[in-house]
This record gives sequence, C-alpha cells and structure tokens, in this order.
Amino acid sequence: MKAVVISGITPAEQVKLSEAPVPCVRPGWVLVRVRAFGMNHSEQVLRLSEIEAPYIQKPVIPGIECVGEIADPSDSGWKAGQRVAALMGGMGRSFDGSYAEYVLLPIHHVFPVESDLPWDALAAVPETWFTAWGSLFECLRLAGEDTLLIRGATCALGYAAIQIARALGCRVIATTHRPAKLALLDAADEALLDEGTLTGRVHGVTKALDLIGPRSLRDTLRCVEKGGIVCDTGILGGVFTLNGFDPIKDIPNGVYLTGFFSNQPTQRAVDDIFSFLSAHGIVPGYGARYSFSDIRAACAAQDGGRVNGKIVVTVGE
Ligand SMILES: NC(=O)c1ccc[n+]([C@@H]2O[C@H](COP(=O)([O-])OP(=O)(O)OC[C@H]3O[C@@H](n4cnc5c(N)ncnc54)[C@H](OP(=O)(O)O)[C@@H]3O)[C@@H](O)[C@H]2O)c1
Repeated sequence: MKAVVISGITPAEQVKLSEAPVPCVRPGWVLVRVRAFGMNHSEQVLRLSEIEAPYIQKPVIPGIECVGEIADPSDSGWKAGQRVAALMGGMGRSFDGSYAEYVLLPIHHVFPVESDLPWDALAAVPETWFTAWGSLFECLRLAGEDTLLIRGATCALGYAAIQIARALGCRVIATTHRPAKLALLDAADEALLDEGTLTGRVHGVTKALDLIGPRSLRDTLRCVEKGGIVCDTGILGGVFTLNGFDPIKDIPNGVYLTGFFSNQPTQRAVDDIFSFLSAHGIVPGYGARYSFSDIRAACAAQDGGRVNGKIVVTVGE
C-alpha cells in the first residue's frame, strides 16, 4: 500500500508516499480501508518536532483520524464494507495512523457510521466534530436559549461549533484576532475582533468555548453571566498551562469552568453527531481538499497556515 512513513523531522517538502506492507490483522484490531482523513495540528507537531520524542514508535505513519470501510473485520462482528470513523487512542503515535491506504486499528477506537455523506464531508467530522460536540454538550450543556461566545473561532473546531450552535438556535458571538478574517465568521450572529480583552465588550453570554486557551482564559471567565459555563478546549494562544491561576479570584462567583479532552470517543457521541447532522441537513464544512497523491501539497498548505478550516485528504479515488 501507499503510505506516508516518517522516522525523523519531516518538513512538508520532504513528505512523500512510500510503499509499505498492508498491516496483518490480529484479535481486537480491524483492518480499515482509508477513504479519507482530516489533518490536524498535532500531526504537524509530530512531523516537525515530536517525532524525536522517545515515546513515538518509529518509523510511524502519522494520522490521528480517518473515515473508511472495514476491509477485514477480524473478531469485531462487523461486516466487510461497513462505513466507519476512527480517531485518537494512540493512532499515528503509538501505532501507525491514517496517512495510508489501509490502517490497522483497535476495535474500541473504530465507530460504525450511518451516513450517506460523501467521503470528503465525512472526513471533516471525526476529531473536529467529536471535540466540538463534547465541548458544547457534555461540558457546556448547550441549549437553544444560550448565548455562546466562541473565542478563536477561525479554526476547524470554531467553524463546526458555529454550525452546531446556530442549528440549535443559539445566539453566537464568534471572535478572531485578524480583522481580515471577520468575514469568515458571517455564520455567527456577531463577529468580533479579539485584541486580547473581551470583558465588557460582550453581553448576555451564558456559555463560552475558549479555543485560545490559557492565554485568554481569565478574561473569558469574566465575560460570562453568573451561572454561566466556560469550556477550555483549545490552545491556539500557544500557552498550555496556567501557573499562578487563583481559582478564588480568577473564577468569578457563580461561574463554572470545565475543559474537554477528545481522547475518549464513544459510539454514543458518534451516533448523536450523525443524527444531528441528518436532522438539521448539515453538510460539515471544510477548508481545503487534496488527493492522497498530493499529500506534500496538503502538508505545505498546513505548514503555511493558508487554509481556513479543516484540510481533508481523499484516498483511492
Ligand atoms: N481539547 C481537545 O481534545 C482538542 C481536540 C482538537 C483540537 N484541539 C485544539 O483546538 C484548537 C483548534 O484546533 P483546530 O484543529 O480546529 O485548528 P485549525 O483548524 O488547525 O486552526 C488553526 C488556525 O487557528 C487560527 N487562530 C484563531 N485564533 C488564533 C489565535 N488567537 N492564535 C493563533 N491562531 C489562531 C489560526 O489562524 P489565524 O491566526 O490566521 O486566525 C490557525 O491557522 C487547537 O488549539 C487544537 O490544539 C483540542
């Protein structure tokens, strides 16, 4: 099969397709024919630095998510040809991932999907929609009457969160740090330029999804009404932890703070997402689409930050 195989730091211009053996099936693992995959910042980090870390099995095929069909069901009970989505659980790090024509995956991170969406639209779903879904419903308990602030909304996750919240009927305020990108947020009710401080500039916010993360969290906490919830899901601000965070003073009285981590996807959430997409007639959006044979160009677009939204790569067309 064709696959991207890396064993050291790999800038986009060195990304290439190699020949690799189709993995051998073993109990508890199924072989998936990859039909498309979404690209993630974490794969860029893997290519450009993390690959040198001792905990990465090398050589490795990157890719933390995909959609495709069961090629060999092993002991799963599924039928060959079943449409599935897969994500996380060590994919593309502890074991080979989805930048390949076939991928061997642990059954508990593979989810049958009932959907007629084309492969490219399906590929925009697993990691991005599971994270948006968990953040909005499991963590923020979003409901139609909420006013949702999405901070750092010009990313795949932000666009998905806008689609979900608008379909629910929420009022959505979405921010970007670039004036030129305000127009990309026209699906929200209000697009705001975020120059670092939003306190006092937004009103009536009951729920907030912070994709900038620790860099903006204290300010985001001051933007929500009493009884409101803030979910910290992203780290676009480049600050990963908060030393000196003082919960007594930094979390306003009666405001709740939560965080979402996408490491434990469930069939229930996958089913709920596809029911929601179907019920609301939503086709998940993406920013750019590449063929697998153009994977180098896809990685270059990712490294250049030129794509607004998810990059999806179709395989075997
Ligand atoms: N908690 C979890 O389990 C989980 C799961 C998935 C993703 N995430 C995180 O969620 C965030 C979004 O992920 P994604 O995959 O949707 O990202 P993405 O589509 O790759 O978007 C990255 C883009 O975000 C934009 N951005 C917006 N505001 C920014 C800011 N203040 N600083 C820097 N960049 C900003 C940047 O473009 P411009 O600068 O041009 O606007 C950048 O090109 C990331 O931090 C990711 O690590 C978390």
